[in-house]
Amino acid sequence: MSKLNKKVGLAQVGVGYWGKNLLRNFAALPEAEVLQVCDQSPEILAKLRDQYSNLDTTDSFTDILTNDDVDAVIIATQTPQHYELAKEALKAGKHVFVEKPLAQTTEQAEELVALADQNDLRLMVGHLLMYHPAFTYVEDIINKGDLGDIRYIYSNRVNLGIIRQRENAFESLAPHDLSLALLFLNCNPVAVSATGQSFLQEGIEDVAFATVFFENGKLAHLHTSWLDPHKIRKVTVVGSKKMAVIDDMESTEKVRLYDKGVDLQPGEKRSYTNYAEAMSLRTGDIVIPKITMKEPLRAECQHFLDCVLSGETPRSDGRNGLTVVRLLEAAQISLRQGGAQVELQPQAAI
Ligand SMILES: NC(=O)c1ccc[n+]([C@@H]2O[C@H](COP(=O)([O-])OP(=O)(O)OC[C@H]3O[C@@H](n4cnc5c(N)ncnc54)[C@H](O)[C@@H]3O)[C@@H](O)[C@H]2O)c1
Repeated sequence: MSKLNKKVGLAQVGVGYWGKNLLRNFAALPEAEVLQVCDQSPEILAKLRDQYSNLDTTDSFTDILTNDDVDAVIIATQTPQHYELAKEALKAGKHVFVEKPLAQTTEQAEELVALADQNDLRLMVGHLLMYHPAFTYVEDIINKGDLGDIRYIYSNRVNLGIIRQRENAFESLAPHDLSLALLFLNCNPVAVSATGQSFLQEGIEDVAFATVFFENGKLAHLHTSWLDPHKIRKVTVVGSKKMAVIDDMESTEKVRLYDKGVDLQPGEKRSYTNYAEAMSLRTGDIVIPKITMKEPLRAECQHFLDCVLSGETPRSDGRNGLTVVRLLEAAQISLRQGGAQVELQPQAAI
């Protein structure tokens, strides 16, 4: 596992709406030296030259690939370019951070994972919520067993905009919640069913409702839309002991833990004559834990640099990105088949 004994020399390709946030964060971290940025827009490059001194700007990705001082490449172009750019960067011996989703197809994602492995390079995907303090807090208490056995989760990620042209609302918004479902349910997904509708652009769904079926009967349900009057960023986790709600629109009280559940009375189930006798509803305290917030994107960028420097595998590594791509791909097939349940083939070992 290769380690680096200096600041990480960085170059970024794509500095649009989201890329400028990544650039701001990487530029602020002492372990990074941002050397070069590449964008197709001359206006964006001119603005960046005003904003950052000593920043080399280019519209040619080859300039980055041939720059020996660049150890790692940040890719924040729109999704259709992720695969080609990541492949070229890995082939040129650069570590890669790529925005979500890793690629558009399972085949592409597998190739990127294999390339990173073969060249002993870190490959990390921007599954931001895996670095968000409210979500990592809930992950910790799940791992400690405080919520009991996690039965199902559901998420609402809806807003008016951003309307994209090259991917639908599910592909654009669901990678975050899929990465969380994998983290919180901690078992393999087995099938996906998705329905949705295109109202604004032909063939590009503005809204999608998807269910991911996991091993042991666990479920994740996702509602994604860019055509909605509300801005909701909420995840609900239902465990056998307690339930948790993470509401990212809340400024401070992002997590609420509900001591709620249904307890089975001791004894054989069938010895009861009705539902009320067999089960008791528990409605206890609602706790709002104090969570020290820090910018999730800063934590994500820091993690990438730490992994490049130490040689450790990122939390949201290529394999994690690949699983999310498999789920996105299965959901696409299901959408085209009017919600048919699409089985996931067991993942080949790569
Ligand atoms: N993690 C998050 O919460 C989050 C939020 C929004 C977007 N994103 C992701 O960020 C990525 C970018 O989205 P965006 O909204 O910033 O898009 P955008 O269109 O605003 O920006 C993309 C930029 O890439 C440039 N570009 C495209 N192809 C290029 C190429 N071959 N060489 C050089 N420059 C090129 C474009 O000129 C543009 O400036 C997407 O993958 C999206 O999924 C992530």
